[in-house]
Amino acid sequence: MHDARRRFIRVIGSASVIAAAPQALGACAPMPDEAIEAWRRAGQEQDPRRKLLSWAILAPNPHNLQPWLVDLRSADRIMLYCDLERLLPMTDPPSRQIVIGHGCFLELLALAAAANGLRAGITPFPEGEPGAAALDARPVARIDLAPAPVARDPLFDQVLARGTYRKPFSERKVPREALEALVDAAARPAVRVSATQEPAMVAHLNRIMVQAWELEQRTPRVWKESVDVMRVGSSEIARHRDGIALGGTMIEIIRLLGMTTPQTMMDPSSVFFSQGLNRVYDWAPNTGAYAWLTTSATGRGAQLEAGRAFVRLQLKAAELGIVTQPPSQVLQEFAEMDALRAQFEQLVAQPAGEKTQMLVRIGYPDASEARSARRPLESFVRT
Ligand SMILES: Cc1cc2nc3c(=O)[nH]c(=O)nc-3n(C[C@H](O)[C@H](O)[C@H](O)COP(=O)(O)O)c2cc1C
Repeated sequence: MHDARRRFIRVIGSASVIAAAPQALGACAPMPDEAIEAWRRAGQEQDPRRKLLSWAILAPNPHNLQPWLVDLRSADRIMLYCDLERLLPMTDPPSRQIVIGHGCFLELLALAAAANGLRAGITPFPEGEPGAAALDARPVARIDLAPAPVARDPLFDQVLARGTYRKPFSERKVPREALEALVDAAARPAVRVSATQEPAMVAHLNRIMVQAWELEQRTPRVWKESVDVMRVGSSEIARHRDGIALGGTMIEIIRLLGMTTPQTMMDPSSVFFSQGLNRVYDWAPNTGAYAWLTTSATGRGAQLEAGRAFVRLQLKAAELGIVTQPPSQVLQEFAEMDALRAQFEQLVAQPAGEKTQMLVRIGYPDASEARSARRPLESFVRT
């Protein structure tokens, strides 16, 4: 029996209910089909800009809030805005990660454009950059599209294979050349990509990953922000098609047992709460490689570049059969994280005036991972 399942049964002490439930419920897919329709529809649109957007919305983004809005009113142009209703003020006070998610979107858009014989001229923040503290209603980017003989980037072929892996890795070690290939693929102007497999450094990073996760989960106002966007069970996932999706048979069981109410999810003595932490403890042992992306600490443009670099790294990983997850907690700017973040910055020798924008754990999969939900394309188009 899988460890997590055994531990879970021990905690609630009702093995017979658990044993009977999968038959009663049938095997529940972790992700309902309707929620991942966008992955099947990518590239199917007739309108050229919608076609590009159908790829771009598959980008990674924090908490899967998909905070993108586009204005298509000028021909041959896409104006990208941030949906200011989809921010994470407690977890990501300056909306730095939200902007990184826009960089990921822009990179997939540019790769899709090139694959369709178009050059995407991207002007970041065409009406000026918002300050460091908060985003505003001005556009994040203007994308001007024009036919051009642009080279197709082979990374585009990996868009449907890319994903975030939230499980323990297999024991297989990532070869050094593969790690170097990831670093090379992530090259973007003004982004420094570093990686390590050095055992003492990795052990330290694993410890920090776990501590930072605990700290986030034990900081109620921050944890609540995650709980608020958790979509528990198939019908909720299908209804929202965003947020942190928790699906599959075991989740349906604990939901039916009333163990996933917002109060229970916030309660540190609950099974749900400790299972969340246990999951992370299980990640560390086989995590033997990390990469991190550093830019200038100032400027929203640098955050966009970090996003472009990050998704390129994930695409290259997909090409190599490698999986990745960015445990971002230690990089976050809420006050309770300050001391641990300072320790991390010292560990990676982050120079003054710079910011580590992404930290990525890297390994080989030990199981399959469901695709993440996406809202329908039309919900991103501003009318
Ligand atoms: C800036 C940023 C921060 C992220 N932080 C985390 C994180 O801390 N933990 C995690 O499991 N995934 C993290 N992710 C991954 C997102 O949760 C993921 O991209 C989103 O849920 C969509 O899933 P997908 O990447 O599989 O399409 C982050 C992604 C971005 C762009």
